[in-house]
Amino acid sequence: MNNFIYENKTKVYFGKGCAKEYLTTLLEGYGNNVLLAYGGGSVKKNGVYDEIMGYLNNAGKTVTEFSGIMSNPTYAKMQEGAALARENQIDLIIAVGGGSVIDCCKIVSAQAKTDRDLWSMEFDCRTYPTEFIPLIAIVTASGTGAEMNNGAVITNEEKKIKAGMLGAQAEIAMIDPYYALSLPMKQVLSGAFDTLNHCMETYFGKPGSGNLSDEINEAIMRLVIRNIRVLRKDTQNMEARSELAWASSMAENGILKIGKVTDFECHQMEHQLGAYTNCNHGAGLAVLHPVYYRHIYPSGKEKFVRFAVEVWGIAPEEKSADQLAEAGIKALADFIREIGLPTTLRELGVDENTDLKAIADSCNCVSGAYKKMTHEEILEIFRECY
Ligand code: NZQ
Ligand code: ZN
Repeated sequence: MNNFIYENKTKVYFGKGCAKEYLTTLLEGYGNNVLLAYGGGSVKKNGVYDEIMGYLNNAGKTVTEFSGIMSNPTYAKMQEGAALARENQIDLIIAVGGGSVIDCCKIVSAQAKTDRDLWSMEFDCRTYPTEFIPLIAIVTASGTGAEMNNGAVITNEEKKIKAGMLGAQAEIAMIDPYYALSLPMKQVLSGAFDTLNHCMETYFGKPGSGNLSDEINEAIMRLVIRNIRVLRKDTQNMEARSELAWASSMAENGILKIGKVTDFECHQMEHQLGAYTNCNHGAGLAVLHPVYYRHIYPSGKEKFVRFAVEVWGIAPEEKSADQLAEAGIKALADFIREIGLPTTLRELGVDENTDLKAIADSCNCVSGAYKKMTHEEILEIFRECY
């Protein structure tokens, strides 16, 4: 196992009614001025906004609203939030939403504390923020696991880059699976599939030989697959929804990454696809992943064999390593079809005139993968996905 340091600073409150039970008391620990951030309005329709606003009013907080945070949040929207936070001398940010709202607020929290342009600071100077406005994340859509880490995926529209930035990590995360009951099933599934992808991107990182993190990872992958199937038949099954919500946090809270270098090349490709087409994150991954794996498996065959056997339950008897590895990837592709996620760029809604070469050329080629991609091979993958 590689050396590691592990800490997770987020205190998690999980389960039905967790905000009702704890939020008012927790608010006593913060200053008076609160930035309440949310997306395009789902929280107003499902009652979550009224509920949280009630706790804020009871606690006597002065609330500034930061609304309209879009999916795939933009750098410009983040700057709007940072300006609001500065003008209103915000003491606490409460992000109520999915990965997009939470990510946007992670960067707002940091940008409000510095006059330097955070994009240029992180990408040009490779320096990272150290001062933050405290952040509470209230999760209304699971999948990204954004509530338990300090990574934030932000789209810089001017530069046509969707990239991971480092920002605030939520001090407190509240995950009430009942808040997600109003989430359209399509988003529930693409979110849950994103969780599975986070597991895979970590599992197929170096070292490939497997460690404790990989064994925990296999359990989470099996659980995610099983519970997605349960939810497809029984959409209101709260046990399955709860398991998926916690699996989402577990996949991105660093535990699975202990002692490993992760892959995440497929995320790099999907993020750039998103920068050019604004596609849904989990759905974009669904299209790319099986094709990407067909490209890399010869460089990590043993682990792909293990994936087939341990995660998809494929019997190893009388099969060669190649047959097993390919069967595991096929099981993944069949699962994507089974749960109704897109399997081609066309199904994802990517216009055929889209400049796939420009997208491929703009992707990062990471070094944790079994096989380091070139821009030419990424373009091949995109073309095979059409
Ligand atoms: O904007 P509103 O009206 O709230 O609607 C949202 C949005 O349209 C809706 N929604 C959320 N909760 C709801 C609800 N609708 C009804 N009822 C509810 N309870 O769901 C839609 C999607 O929300 P969004 O936050 O965009 O989805 P998701 O959680 O999948 O987040 C996607 C973003 O996270 C990034 C992605 O790249 C993408 O930008 N990621 C963040 C990661 C991280 N920080 O660790 C890791 C991931 O790999 C990912 O890249
Ligand atoms: Zn993801």
